[in-house]
Amino acid sequence: MASRRAGVALPSAAFLLLPLLLAMASAGLNGYFGTKSRYEEVNPHLVGDPLSLGPAAAGSRLPAACAPLQLRAVLRHGTRYPTAGQIRRLGELHARLLRRRAAAAAACPAAADLAAWQMWYEESLDGRLAPQGRRDMEHLARRLAARFPALFAARRRLELASSSKHRCLQSSAAFRRGLGPSLSLGSDEVEVEVNDSLMRFFDHCAKFVALVEENDTAMCQVNAFKEGPEMRKVLEKVASALCLPVEELNADLVQVAFLTCSYELAIKNVTSPWCSLFSEEDAKVLEYLNDLKQYWKRGYGYDINSRSSCILFQDIFQHLDKAVEDSKSSKPISSPLIVQVGHAETLQPLLALMGFFKDDEPLKANNYVRQTHRKFRSGRIVPYAANLVFVLYHCDQVKTSKEEYQVQMLLNEKLMPFHHSNETISAYADLKDYYKDILENCHFKEECELPKVNITAIDEL
Ligand SMILES: *[C@@H]1O[C@H](CO)[C@@H](O)[C@H](O)[C@H]1NC(C)=O
Ligand SMILES: *[C@@H]1O[C@H](CO)[C@@H](O)[C@H](O)[C@H]1NC(C)=O
Ligand SMILES: *[C@@H]1O[C@H](CO)[C@@H](O)[C@H](O)[C@H]1NC(C)=O
Ligand SMILES: *[C@@H]1O[C@H](CO)[C@@H](O)[C@H](O)[C@H]1NC(C)=O
Ligand SMILES: *[C@@H]1O[C@H](CO)[C@@H](O)[C@H](O)[C@H]1NC(C)=O
Repeated sequence: MASRRAGVALPSAAFLLLPLLLAMASAGLNGYFGTKSRYEEVNPHLVGDPLSLGPAAAGSRLPAACAPLQLRAVLRHGTRYPTAGQIRRLGELHARLLRRRAAAAAACPAAADLAAWQMWYEESLDGRLAPQGRRDMEHLARRLAARFPALFAARRRLELASSSKHRCLQSSAAFRRGLGPSLSLGSDEVEVEVNDSLMRFFDHCAKFVALVEENDTAMCQVNAFKEGPEMRKVLEKVASALCLPVEELNADLVQVAFLTCSYELAIKNVTSPWCSLFSEEDAKVLEYLNDLKQYWKRGYGYDINSRSSCILFQDIFQHLDKAVEDSKSSKPISSPLIVQVGHAETLQPLLALMGFFKDDEPLKANNYVRQTHRKFRSGRIVPYAANLVFVLYHCDQVKTSKEEYQVQMLLNEKLMPFHHSNETISAYADLKDYYKDILENCHFKEECELPKVNITAIDEL
């Protein structure tokens, strides 16, 4: 009797342990999901309390004897569903595993587990905001309001702008909802203003579209890495775990399997069986693949990537200027709160324009190992709900012996040291001086114009 009970107890104990083991194995992957990272990866204290201002809050307290005049936040939308393309690819991979289910059962437990996994994503979800994404935005709004109570006080005017993408409009609405009825806004307030020329400047920049977006050779480093030795190793490992011939897999299919692991965590808060295909080492390789793409398409890879964001950069400074002007003439600040919701593709070029997260060497297909400690890690910079906040202060000169107008920048709610001073607060005039060249000489229209083709010269060829 006793021995029989023990015989029963053993598998059930293993059954109980399995989710724990899975969770332990995949916890190691969560830091490598790149642009599909949860916001909690950069602010782990939010796992316990999504409204906590965290351990950094003490260090991010408002500067003494200063009052905030204007807050400008540029946000990435919250957690979203996969795009239709990703869902289609996942469906393909899953169907392939289903077809081989019978053959795989004995030899390939991983393949059998994945065949049994329910493919619940539908193409119609195409990049839409997930319920978790709404919570990301509501919580972010509440934390910002808690950090800057004077700005988010009753009857302050909020200007809310958004990209035209559904996930951004939904994110804007969720942010507004998060502020709640305590922020009684003026009756003239428009709900959300769609402004793609600011939030999707990349679509409107002809030079970017021609040189980068629609140019296959522009992504040559990304494509080379997909075929390179590091990816090859991951591919062979995954193929072997799934008992698939390696020719049936490619970098895109392996990446979609890895993305599914990230989506299931971000959207459903579960550790999916897809995660068990990857070790932490594999995850680092796949993270690099994601970062390479961001680097060449949105970051330092090509100048036009960041130059196309000049329009947004200048808009930010125009509104800061206006607030200083209002303050100097003792008028109420016309735009105390400006919140704009866009994409990772909105934030990354802007941060590159300002010179942040720049490595000494470019990210390339052949320097994976040398880039182990790189600054350019998208998951740390632009996870879901990423936010870049500029705060303009008016400071008491007698008490602070500082310039009257000061600024701070927060990325993902953490103070960023400025490049020119390595300090987390700067005189507004010093910041403008440091970015003088961009402010004076970067004009969207000129930067984004395609070089004029000399028709006469071509005719003569
Ligand atoms: C978008 O914002 C820019 C800069 O503030 C402004 O010039 C433009 O008129 C806005 N576009 C729309 C459609 O509101
Ligand atoms: C495409 O990108 C390559 C590599 O940067 C560049 O040399 C080439 O001029 C680009 N082609 C076009 C049409 O812009
Ligand atoms: C997510 O799952 C973890 C572990 O199962 C749990 O502790 C946590 O409360 C969950 N978070 C949410 C937001 O449901
Ligand atoms: C910037 O400041 C930080 C913290 O005070 C310090 O650790 C770092 O070495 C400084 N960097 C430079 C380039 O001065
Ligand atoms: C176009 O090319 C022709 C022949 O090479 C040259 O004479 C002419 O100056 C060029 N025009 C412009 C606007 O560059």
